[in-house]
Amino acid sequence: REVAPKKKVLLMGKSGAGKTSMRSIIFANYISRDCYHLGPTLEIEHAHVRFLGNIVLLWDCGGQETFMENYMTSQRDQIFKNVQVLIYVFDVESTEIEKDSRNYSGCLEALLQNSPQAKVFCLVHKMDLVQEDKRNSVFEGLVSKINEITRETALRHQIPAYVQCYRSSIWDETLYKAWSAIVYQLVPNVNVMEHKLKQFAEIMDADEVLLLEKATFLVVSRITRREYEDDHRFEKVSNIIKQFKLSCSRMGAQFECIHIKNSDFSAFIDTFTSNTYIMSICDGNVSAAAVAMNIKSARKHFQ
Ligand code: GTP
Repeated sequence: REVAPKKKVLLMGKSGAGKTSMRSIIFANYISRDCYHLGPTLEIEHAHVRFLGNIVLLWDCGGQETFMENYMTSQRDQIFKNVQVLIYVFDVESTEIEKDSRNYSGCLEALLQNSPQAKVFCLVHKMDLVQEDKRNSVFEGLVSKINEITRETALRHQIPAYVQCYRSSIWDETLYKAWSAIVYQLVPNVNVMEHKLKQFAEIMDADEVLLLEKATFLVVSRITRREYEDDHRFEKVSNIIKQFKLSCSRMGAQFECIHIKNSDFSAFIDTFTSNTYIMSICDGNVSAAAVAMNIKSARKHFQ
């Protein structure tokens, strides 16, 4: 029996663009590293992670100049086949815009030829290094350059291409926002999921219910039924759970569910579908057993 090839997410960009830093924040170091052999002379660092189910993350490649130059060799088909998403990182402080543009265009070209259906996202990274009042114009300038390269490359190959750009920095919430927006677009049937989640939140009379992607704890879908002041709560929750999970794994343990309760609220985090955790916030009087039972009965409707 033939096994369906795994879909990949490629994270690319020149050396020093910030890929490793990004990875360790978004995935909190749950990465198994190994080496991916590309013929006798070339070896690239390669790391897998299960992300949204089947996807393997191929952290990339652009680290070495030689590899950048070798994207265009016969090996490129191997890398660019079965790609679901390309996330390309631009360093906003780079002084070699022309070279960066050529590299991006080369990656895009290989992608269009091997995985024409793939989605393309560009992150304009290290935005914290740009003076605050210049950020919008710098970002917009780079975005129009990226759009232009994308259009030209697509025209050359007569394959339609569309790119979405986000600004990011590891020093503020923009990195989390950009990745959440990307993950949100990768979840299949997200509308159906939201509809079901709404029903679930109503049955539970919950204040808020979140579905969190298993590898990153990014919010995949959410229903909010009351006002909250803190707009950064998702990012905070994501970081706290990731750190907790990391502490558990250091002791060789794994958590299945977490219940936090005080007189105001009762928060319950539980494993849900194969790709998600669910987090439900209810009134402080709701019993943990009732929430656990509701989650258990809801699970089969989401699989
Ligand atoms: P290679 O491993 O060579 O491919 O580089 P990389 O793309 O993985 O870059 P890496 O994550 O190693 O980051 C390079 C440098 O940029 C490090 O010193 C980081 O601390 C810094 N850096 C990464 N992200 C940001 C950011 O958002 N803002 C600022 N100011 N620095 C950043």
